[in-house]
Amino acid sequence: MSIFLLSSNVDSVGEVSKQNSALHLESRGGYSLSGDIKVSGAKNSALVLMAASLLTEEEMLIKNVPNLTDINGMAEILISLGVQLKRSSSEIYISPQGLHHVELPYDLVHRLRASFFCIGPLLARLGKAKIPLPGGCRIGARPVEEHIKGLKALGAQINISNGLVTAEVPGLNKKLQGTNVILDCPSVGATETILMAATLAEGTTTINNAAQEPEVQDLAKMLNSMGALIEGAGQSTITIKGVKKLYGCNHTVIPDRIEAGTFLIAAAITRSNLRISPVIPEHLKAVLEKLSDCGCSIKFDQDGINLIPGSIKGVDISTEPFPGFPTDLQAPFMALMATAQGKSKIKENVYENRMQHVYELKKMGASIHLEGSTAEIEGVHELKGAAVIGGDLRSSAAMVLASLVAKGMTKVWGINHLDRGYESIEHKLNSVGADIVRKEKSLEVEHFPIVGERAA
Ligand code: EPZ
Repeated sequence: MSIFLLSSNVDSVGEVSKQNSALHLESRGGYSLSGDIKVSGAKNSALVLMAASLLTEEEMLIKNVPNLTDINGMAEILISLGVQLKRSSSEIYISPQGLHHVELPYDLVHRLRASFFCIGPLLARLGKAKIPLPGGCRIGARPVEEHIKGLKALGAQINISNGLVTAEVPGLNKKLQGTNVILDCPSVGATETILMAATLAEGTTTINNAAQEPEVQDLAKMLNSMGALIEGAGQSTITIKGVKKLYGCNHTVIPDRIEAGTFLIAAAITRSNLRISPVIPEHLKAVLEKLSDCGCSIKFDQDGINLIPGSIKGVDISTEPFPGFPTDLQAPFMALMATAQGKSKIKENVYENRMQHVYELKKMGASIHLEGSTAEIEGVHELKGAAVIGGDLRSSAAMVLASLVAKGMTKVWGINHLDRGYESIEHKLNSVGADIVRKEKSLEVEHFPIVGERAA
């Protein structure tokens, strides 16, 4: 047995301790699945909704919050700012009147990029914020200049030195000023940052070239329940009339469209008939179209989707901002295309480095040619089990999907990423017939593939 050096798997959530890197999933492929899979609340909505709770002094109740490590990270950050927070199963109760701190601790921010969502609410509520720049991650540089540009347009004075963003609202009343913002790119995070900051500004703000993602719409819906005056969320121009104060509210997080899409692909790749619910179909339109184009039939019922796969053939996808095909399902869809009949082409347009799963799929026998961020796939009859690693949240999910149909055993490393974005994925898949076990392994002698390692 060859001895490989263990490397801690640095990810966008930060350095993973060696203990975590021993965590992996062992998955035996070849089972057909059947039954219902329940979809949790959307991670990418819950995180920003938690940050938005800082905009009021009144109590907030956020329901249908998924149980994920990223959510725990955001809870830690809110508590570090002086907020009281309680969790009971999928509900988070937030009492933000104790908010007094404006500086986020480096170690927490380093572990959770989404903590940068706090800058807008802190400026709007307290007129000041000190937040370390969120670093890049495996999928790209993840700059935040559009967030900064928007906050400056609203009147904030912002200084960035040694990786620390210090922002302040000038003037006696410390009020941001409504303005017209044109985003260079329809950034989800920048749209959400400006949206939150503008709710308490003096005057009206317009965001042009705004992101249209369902999570932006969910945020606007909650802010309006808090007393904000937002129109146009979900379109490319959003208008926010500033108000003096926001109030507490109860809000239920939308279902996670990316988790739902991941499980729909699980049905397609195992050629199984599964029902996924709850799902809001218009949140997955582009994905449903591609699943139908490649040979699946999709049936809708009251709040769920039944996927009945036919023989799966290759189809091309190109990732785009919503309502286009979501970048977060690019890697999972590539796992499906690796087992489809014929050729397909997948182009990643949103991030500059979101193709690490290509190397891992090739270790399992996939036939993929990669040029930059374009992959040309020739479907193979059978994948084979291997030791593979997910370099980010969605490539880890792609590995799990591929393991469901690979011959023999697949060991999926890097599952600290999975736990960031999928609530007990192995339990949900095992409940419909998969055979996945979460394992701890001794660290001495184990093959621990280095992310992006070239396939043999
Ligand atoms: C959100 O990230 C999601 N994360 C991401 O999900 C998702 O992939 C992304 O939106 C796109 O849909 C959360 O909501 C917590 P962006 P965000 O700003 O807001 C560039 C997952 O797997 N850009 O829309 O960071 C950026 O580099 C995660 O769940 C700038 O150039 O995404 C990227 O290439 C991954 N300048 C593109 O825009 C900026 O100032 C999209 O980024 C901001 C962004």
